[in-house]
Amino acid sequence: MNRAPLVARKMLQYPFARAYSSGVAAAVASAATSTVDGPHTRPVVKTAIPGPRSKALLEEMGKSLSTSQVAFFTDYEQSCGNYMVDADGNVLLDLLTQIGSLPLGYNHPAVMAAVSSSSALTPLVTRPSLAMFPPSSWPELVQSTLLPLAPRGLSEVTLMMCGTCANENAFKAAFINYMDVKREKPLTPDSEEYSSTMLNQPPGSPKLSILSFMGGFHGRALGTLSCTHSKPIHKLDIPAFDWPVALFPRLQYPLDQFVRENEMEEKRCLAEVEEKMEKAAKAGEPVAAIIIEPIQAEGGMWTETTFVNWLCEC
Ligand SMILES: Cc1ncc(COP(=O)(O)O)c(C=O)c1O
Repeated sequence: MNRAPLVARKMLQYPFARAYSSGVAAAVASAATSTVDGPHTRPVVKTAIPGPRSKALLEEMGKSLSTSQVAFFTDYEQSCGNYMVDADGNVLLDLLTQIGSLPLGYNHPAVMAAVSSSSALTPLVTRPSLAMFPPSSWPELVQSTLLPLAPRGLSEVTLMMCGTCANENAFKAAFINYMDVKREKPLTPDSEEYSSTMLNQPPGSPKLSILSFMGGFHGRALGTLSCTHSKPIHKLDIPAFDWPVALFPRLQYPLDQFVRENEMEEKRCLAEVEEKMEKAAKAGEPVAAIIIEPIQAEGGMWTETTFVNWLCEC
């Protein structure tokens, strides 16, 4: 298959890149304010975007790295608050906070101060194996930072490097729990489970599934990708678990004017979840967990491609 049109389509699917490269971000910026006092108070566009320096860097980077998603290069040291400065000195209002991943803005002074402290720098420099040799400050640090933010009723923390790793490990925890409940006696190392799992076969590697929803994004590793259904381009050519996928309710707004329609829509989707779970159990691959992205969006937006996928499924 010729990949070129796919790559071009993929680039067009990134509203972030499109907004910046078309100058939209800068054009709509004048009324907005920065979250942090800094040198930039308004967008300044000096060159085309990407400018000559970004283009030269793109060519250089293309020699050794994939560049298909690069919109332009950024000068992170000069960026501040909501304002992003590119490699050509253009100052752009970042309407999407990167990909929604920088809610406090660029170079926030409180974040900079916290990261510059020795209690942050020492673990970064020493990179301890936290499971085996945690620093003596670790219990207090976890208890005073993460636990106060945990949803009510959850009192333990498992730390992961990223969203994908967190989801992958949540799947594993759900599978282990499912089998623990099902199994009547503890396993011994000479059991069939121990030997069969080394060959990816049941009973050691059991047939179980995770139910996910059309339109959701949960990561791009092999397990999470089977639960990601936002864009075909993420999944194409990659083997997937044949796990059940249910429709996600598409509500109509304003909510108070569509109460009946929305209730019916939610009922329809819930009925489908039940049906898919029963079908999976009958097929010998019962659902061990359900993963849901309660507010489906990318950079705050439901993209056209996601919507089209959803329509095709209906
Ligand atoms: C809802 C959702 N789940 C999982 C992920 C994957 O997280 P990460 O990119 O940190 O692996 C993302 C990333 O955008 C996400 O938006």
